[in-house]
Amino acid sequence: MNQLAVQLNYLAKKGWKPRNSEENYLITLLKVELSKVALKEAKGKSLRKLFEDAVASVASESSTGTWTSVYSGKGSGIPLSAKKRAMAYDLDYKNLMFKVAYPIDLFELDNISGLLAGIVGNIAGMKMVSAMRVYDIRFPKKMIQAFPGPKFGVQGVRKLLKKKKGPFVVTVPKPKIGRTDKEQADLARVLFTSGNGTYDGIKDDENLTNLEFNQYNKRCKLVLNELRKAEKKTGNKKFYLCNTTHSNLDKMVERANLIKKNGGIFMMMDVITTGFSAVDTIRRRNLGLAIHAHRAMHGFMTRDNSPGVHGNGKLNGFSISMVTIAKLFRLLGVDSLHGGSPLAKMEDYGEAEYIQKVLQEKENKPHKKIPSLGQNWHNIKPVWMTASGGLHPGDFEFVLDKLGEDIILQCGGGLLGHPNGVEAGVIAIEEARELAMKKGSFKKFVKDNPKSELANAINLWGYGPRIVY
Ligand code: 3PG
Ligand code: MG
Repeated sequence: MNQLAVQLNYLAKKGWKPRNSEENYLITLLKVELSKVALKEAKGKSLRKLFEDAVASVASESSTGTWTSVYSGKGSGIPLSAKKRAMAYDLDYKNLMFKVAYPIDLFELDNISGLLAGIVGNIAGMKMVSAMRVYDIRFPKKMIQAFPGPKFGVQGVRKLLKKKKGPFVVTVPKPKIGRTDKEQADLARVLFTSGNGTYDGIKDDENLTNLEFNQYNKRCKLVLNELRKAEKKTGNKKFYLCNTTHSNLDKMVERANLIKKNGGIFMMMDVITTGFSAVDTIRRRNLGLAIHAHRAMHGFMTRDNSPGVHGNGKLNGFSISMVTIAKLFRLLGVDSLHGGSPLAKMEDYGEAEYIQKVLQEKENKPHKKIPSLGQNWHNIKPVWMTASGGLHPGDFEFVLDKLGEDIILQCGGGLLGHPNGVEAGVIAIEEARELAMKKGSFKKFVKDNPKSELANAINLWGYGPRIVY
C-alpha cells in the first residue's frame, strides 16, 4: 500500500451517505484552503485532486490512519482500522467544504476530551492546508444519551427563581476590578432593591476570582447575605453568578460548596479556561447548583472575520465555530452560556440567533446560511442563552425580538454607565424590560416619556450597537 492509496481509502465514493447516521455515526462539517506548499508540490495534480487528498488526509489523521503506509502483516490492526475508518463525503469542490462521518465505535461515548483529541486533535497542523474551520459537529443518539446535560436548564432555573416568564436581567460590576468584596455586596443591595425591586442578578467579571482586596469567601458570603435580605424586602427571588473559576478543580469544588452552604443557587465558571473535563466533572459531581458558563478566551478559537465564515468565501485562518462550542457545553450540562448578542458584533450574520436555537431547541435544524448540521437533542434540556457585551437598555426591543424571552440579558456598562447613576440604571432596565415584554415601541416611549430613565439612557447610547472594546 502506498501513501496515496491509504489516503484515498478515506474518501467516500460520490453520492455516499452514512447509513442511519443518527445511530451509527458522528458527523463533522469543515472547510479548508489549500496551502502554497501543497500547490507547489502538486506535480501536475488538479486542484480537485489536491482537495480530495486533503479531505482524505483529514478523515485519515482524525480516525485510524497516518501520513504513510505502515506494516500491515499479522497483528498490525489494519483490518479493524479499515473497518472503523472515517469517511470524507459530500465534497463541495467550489467552496472546499466537506463532511466527515466517524463510526461511533471509534469513541468512548462519554469522553469529550478524548473525542476532540481525535476529531480535531491534529488536523489543523497539516502542511497541505493553510486554513481550516470546523463549522459543526453532529452527535449520534448514543453519545447524547451518555451525558446528563443541564441539571436545571431553562425551566428548572425558572422554577428556582419562581419566575414563569420574561428574560432575566443581570449586571457585571464595572470597573471590572476595583471594588472590594464589601463594596460589591453594597452594589448588589442597590441593584436588587432599587426601582421596583425586580432586578434579578449580579455576576462576577471573569478576572475577579480570589484577590487580596476582594476575597472569594468574603465576597460569596457578603453578596449572598445581601441577596437574601433583598429577597425578603422585595418578595422577588434573585441570583448571584459567583465566579468559582480556578485551574485547580478541588478549589473550584470547594468554592461551589461555599455557594451552596450560603444558600446560593448558581455558580459561575469560565468554561474554556477551565476546560472540558472541569465542566464534565463539576456537572457529574451534582453539587446542586445551576452552572453559569462564561466563555472568556473563546475568541482565540472561534473568531473568523474572513468571508469564508459564511462557507462560500476564502478562509484566512484556523478556527472552530461558537456553534460547535455551544453544542459541546450543552451536552456537558451547563445551565446557561454566553452566546453573544445580535448587536454585539459589527458584522452580524445571525450567529447569536442560531446559537440560541442550538442551545434551546429539541430538534435543531441546520441554518439556511450558516454552515451547520442540525442536532436532535433527545433527553438533553435547553440551556439559557446569555446575551452580553456592550448591551444597554436601548437594545432590549431588538434583542428580545430576535432572541425571545429565555435569555439572560447582561448589562455591565449599560447599567453602571447611566448618566443619573446606578439606581437610575436599574430603573431604565426595568422600564426597558417591561416595554419590550409588552412589545411596545421604544421610540414612542421616549417621545411620550422624555424624562424617564429609559429615555435618559437612550439619549446617551441610542438604540443600536455600540463598538465594544
Ligand atoms: C461579561 O462578562 O459579560 C462582560 O463583562 C460584559 O460587560 P459589558 O456589559 O459592560 O459589556
Ligand atoms: Mg466580562
